[in-house]
Amino acid sequence: TDGRLEAVKALITAHPDFPKKGILFRNIFPVLRDPKGFHTLCDLMVEHIQSKCSNVELIVGLDSRGFLFGPIVAQRLNIGFAPVRKAGKLPGETFKVSYSLEYGQDSFEIEKSSVKLGQKVVIIDDLIATGGSMKAACELIEMAGADVVECYLVIELVDLKGRDKINKPVTSLIQY
Ligand code: PRP
Ligand code: HPA
Repeated sequence: TDGRLEAVKALITAHPDFPKKGILFRNIFPVLRDPKGFHTLCDLMVEHIQSKCSNVELIVGLDSRGFLFGPIVAQRLNIGFAPVRKAGKLPGETFKVSYSLEYGQDSFEIEKSSVKLGQKVVIIDDLIATGGSMKAACELIEMAGADVVECYLVIELVDLKGRDKINKPVTSLIQY
């Protein structure tokens, strides 16, 4: 490798028993604090999506940490960005699904007007744990009649087997 991935990985911190006992929390924010590291991370994401999903037409990011990366990647690819938000935050007509996550239960929504029929979508998030959030996001894109070409994560917590819940291609940059 060219060392870029290792440089990004070195910035991610681990926090035992946060936010609950038994959870080893991986923190992405030290990467954003480091402008060179953050730039490198965005480069790696864009390069991957350009090479593996050259037909992508829309980036969807998950509330809230998917919003840190999704819009930057979308701008660099010269395509649009649409948010999947926790329920009750988006105006107008929405599609809605509920899901369970590593430490809780919630509902996600997407604006009906933000996704077009048949559109090729890449969904971006900071991390996959149990996969509940990404599975719910895939369901929303399917409800909208669009096509998830890839689910792209900065971090994958491999032991939780989140990818097994998802019937779409899943790619992660960093695995723990
Ligand atoms: C975290 C993380 C992912 C999700 C992963 O978000 O950013 O979106 O959990 O967990 P899962 O694979 O078990 O679904 P969280 O729901 O804590 O919201 P936040 O980004 O607003 O902190
Ligand atoms: N780190 C950050 N976010 C998370 C984690 C984690 O380990 N698990 C679920 N969401």
